[in-house]
Amino acid sequence: MTLVELLPSVGACAEPPLEKHLWPAGTKLLPQGDLEIGGVPLTRLAARFGTPFQLLDETEVRARARAFRHALPEAEVVFAGKSLPCGSVFRWLAEEGLSLDVCSAGELAAARKAGFPADRIVLHGNVKTAEDIKAALSYGVGRIVLDSFDEIAQLVPGQRVLIRVTPGVDAHTHPAITTGVEGQKFGFSLDAVPEAVRRVEEAGLRLAGLHCHLGSQITCVSVYEEAVRRVIGLGLPIEQLDLGGGFAAPYVPGEQPFDLTGFANRVHAALGYECEHNRIPVPRLMIEPGRALVANAGVTVYRVAAVKPGFIAVDGGMSDNPRPALYGARYTARLVGRHSRAPRHTVTVVGRHCEAGDVLARDVQLPDDVRAGDLLAVPVTGAYHYALASNYNLVGRPPLVGVCDGIVRELVRRETEEDLLRRDLMPA
Ligand code: LLP
Repeated sequence: MTLVELLPSVGACAEPPLEKHLWPAGTKLLPQGDLEIGGVPLTRLAARFGTPFQLLDETEVRARARAFRHALPEAEVVFAGKSLPCGSVFRWLAEEGLSLDVCSAGELAAARKAGFPADRIVLHGNVKTAEDIKAALSYGVGRIVLDSFDEIAQLVPGQRVLIRVTPGVDAHTHPAITTGVEGQKFGFSLDAVPEAVRRVEEAGLRLAGLHCHLGSQITCVSVYEEAVRRVIGLGLPIEQLDLGGGFAAPYVPGEQPFDLTGFANRVHAALGYECEHNRIPVPRLMIEPGRALVANAGVTVYRVAAVKPGFIAVDGGMSDNPRPALYGARYTARLVGRHSRAPRHTVTVVGRHCEAGDVLARDVQLPDDVRAGDLLAVPVTGAYHYALASNYNLVGRPPLVGVCDGIVRELVRRETEEDLLRRDLMPA
C-alpha cells in the first residue's frame, strides 16, 4: 500500500478548474465528477452512444454565428463548410442567416440536402472538377470563386464570380495551412489579376468581387489589414471583398479567443482608408469563418483502454483526429465521470492505431490513478475532426451527437462494420 493510499491527504490535489473558454458556454462540473454540456451529462451520452463519440453543442454554434453577425453587421458571414460538413449544422447556420462556402460536389450535396439557399452558396476550390462545376451550375450557386484561368471557360455567361487573389501576406501559421503567400497552389498573384478580370469580362461572367484567404488558425489581426491594403491597392472598383477565414480558436489553456471586435474595427478602418486613397467605392465585406464557429462547440469523449508509463491509450485516435499528426496540433484532456484527488502527472494521450505518431494530446496533466474504463473528454474538436476523419485500420468513424438545452439528437450515426465493407467488391 502506498503512502497516498494510507493517508489520502498526502499528495492529494484539488481538481483543476474548467478552462472555460475552451468548452461550450454553460459547461458545468457536476458533483460526481461528471461534466454537463448543453444540459446533458457526458456519462449519460457515453452510456447511450458508446465511445468514442463527438458532441456538438448547437447553442454554442448558433451563439458564435450571432457573435460574428453582431460584430460585423454589414458584412456577409459565410460558413466554411469544410470545417464541419454536416447537414444539420448547415441548416442551423442557414437559419442564423449565414451564407455557406462549399468546395466540392459532395459538400454541395450536403448543402442541397439541408435546403441551403443556392444564392447564399459560394463554390471554392483550387481544383473544381467537371462534376463540381456541373453540380454548382445545376443548383444555381450564387457565386463561384475562380482559382485559375482554366476554370473561366467552363462557366456559363452571367455566372457571378469572385477572383481569388494571393496577396503575398504571411499569416504566420502552420505551413500546411498558410495560403496567402506566393509559392503555394492557390489563387492568382496580384500581377495576374488584371488579365483575370479581362478574361472574366470576355467570357461574359459577372465579376462580383475579389477574394483572398490567408490561412487558418491566424491569431493576429494585422495580417488582414495588410491583405486589405494589397487587394484594394489594385484599384479595382468591386462590389464585394472576401477576406476568407482563418480566425483562430483556442485549443489549450493559455490560448486566447480571436479578437473579433478588434478585427471588425481595424478591418473597417483599413477598408475605408484604402478605398478613399484609391478612389473606389467601399465594397461589401465577406468573411468565411469555419473553425471559429464550430471548434469550441465540439468535445470528443473517449474511454481509456490501457495505461502504460507516460501514456494513456484510448479507444479512438488519429482516425477521428489526425490534426496532431498533420499539424502538430495541441489538445488538452480531462477525466470525466468520477472525482480524483490523486496527484497529477504529465502524460501523453495516444490512440489505438498502429503508428507511433497516433497521438491525441501530448503532455497533458492527468491524475495518476486514471485507469482502463475511465472516460476522457477532449475539448475543441468541433472543427476539422468529423471532416478529416478516416477509416484507418478499418475503424468506424464515431457518431456526431448534437445537444441543445437538454435535448439530444444524433446528427451523424456511428459507422458500422457493414458500412466499412460496403465498397469492397470481393466476390462472396
Ligand atoms: N475559406 C477558404 C477559402 C478556406 O480554404 C478555408 C479553410 C476557410 C475559409 C476557413 O478557414 P478557418 O476559418 O476554418 O480557419 N484542416 C486544417 C484546416 C484547413 C483549412 C482549409 N481552408 C486544420 O485542421 O487545421
